[in-house]
Amino acid sequence: MGKTVDIAVVGSGYVGLVAAVCFAEMGHHVICVDNDPAKVKALQGGDSLIHEEHLPQLLNKYRNNQVEFTTDLGAATEKAAAIFIAVGTPQSETGDADLSYVEAVACEIARHLKTYKVIVEKSTVPVYTNEWIRRAIERNGVDRSLFDVCSNPEFLREGTAVSDFLHPDRIVVGADSEKAARLLQEIYAPLTSGDYYTREGIIPGEFTSDAPPPLLLTSTKSAEIIKHASNAFLALKISFINAVSSLCEATDANVQQVAQGMGLDTRIGPRFLRPGIGYGGSCFPKDVAAFRSVAEQMGVDFSLLTEVERINANQKKRFLAKVRAALWTLRGKKLAVLGLAFKGDTDDIRDSPAIEMVKMLIAEGCSITAYDPAAIERTRAVLPESDKLRYADGIYAAAEDADALLILTDWHEFGALDLEKLRTALRYSIIVDGRNMYDPAKVADAGITYYSVGRPVAHPVRELVNA
Ligand code: UDX
Repeated sequence: MGKTVDIAVVGSGYVGLVAAVCFAEMGHHVICVDNDPAKVKALQGGDSLIHEEHLPQLLNKYRNNQVEFTTDLGAATEKAAAIFIAVGTPQSETGDADLSYVEAVACEIARHLKTYKVIVEKSTVPVYTNEWIRRAIERNGVDRSLFDVCSNPEFLREGTAVSDFLHPDRIVVGADSEKAARLLQEIYAPLTSGDYYTREGIIPGEFTSDAPPPLLLTSTKSAEIIKHASNAFLALKISFINAVSSLCEATDANVQQVAQGMGLDTRIGPRFLRPGIGYGGSCFPKDVAAFRSVAEQMGVDFSLLTEVERINANQKKRFLAKVRAALWTLRGKKLAVLGLAFKGDTDDIRDSPAIEMVKMLIAEGCSITAYDPAAIERTRAVLPESDKLRYADGIYAAAEDADALLILTDWHEFGALDLEKLRTALRYSIIVDGRNMYDPAKVADAGITYYSVGRPVAHPVRELVNA
């Protein structure tokens, strides 16, 4: 076991909460602070609030011992050696990240700062934020020698957040002082030394080979840019393959084969080359916009990012056109929709392309019966049931008597449908799959016409209409 560090994590959203329990799993003492008393109470009671594998288990293991939940940022500041800021940085109207929560936290920390602390940006923030934090703290009367501000961006994905945190590809620490860098190195030592991976009963990673992750030490500004640049690059990869999928559709080629052929080049790699209905979620759309905005403010031409966004928006319109092409007209059509979350294995609906699609289809005059294994309650809060939208409690209940079935989120169970049962439930045997979950020939063999993304339409030998 390495050295135990007293850590405060401010913000108990996705990144904050996962970081808090994972730091405990790595052997540290953590105080997790949130200004929402209801949230703090729920977490103290063991309710993890988000749908995330391994999180309930770790929360129950460490709450009330190695992880304490509180609303008291002042007391947490006084006790901790490192304070991780993991509050929200939502998108403002101009596309910039709204940093008002970060500023408020920095000012509050300043009021309680009496001995040396390392303040760490964990939220995704634009370059120069570390300087703003430093200035805000100094403006509140704190001497520069009493703190350092570092950047330690987090690369976890929703759905695999805990596992990603504990088995990262890399750890990036942006620090402009040696003292601060040393503390961050100590905090991550259980991972970088490989110690954690030799322990019994660890949380498993996605890949089995657990060479310890490298810790890359950079300047604070470089670390801030690494996070934005990484997310923008991944979004670009998705938009690229989505544009290629359009070309495949126009030429009767198969994007899956094209992606495979590209991905075998180790310089390109196979991941994040799945075409679909466009990327969504709480990070990519916001981070691409924020990065574009930073470039604009610095007078740098990065219009490539505008193009990434344009292709992403267009991908949804193209999917709508595909549904129209499958059904001839849309007004009055009854559609079954599988998937509301922005991707599988999460109940998160922030910037979900599936929900955007549902809204677009309703605007076209369709009525929708939707099902999602985890995201219905969250969706209901933003899209209440109406004569145009109903929520079903199962896949086949949603499909009953629908003119077509649409797959909008890549939940595993949507890739293992009972096609025969579906064919008899649907009025017309049509699937429009926005996530390429099936081998087209297999669906056509089951008597269903299958539309997917960037692959030729698969028709059954004889299209069956259920009487
Ligand atoms: C992302 C980054 O992956 C992560 O490193 C960062 O910390 C936060 O943002 P997340 O938003 O959880 O993570 O989801 P991710 O799995 O990256 O998917 C983002 C979106 O892209 C989803 O809408 C997903 O469906 C879509 N996607 C992903 C594709 O359309 N094709 C792909 O090949 C991969």
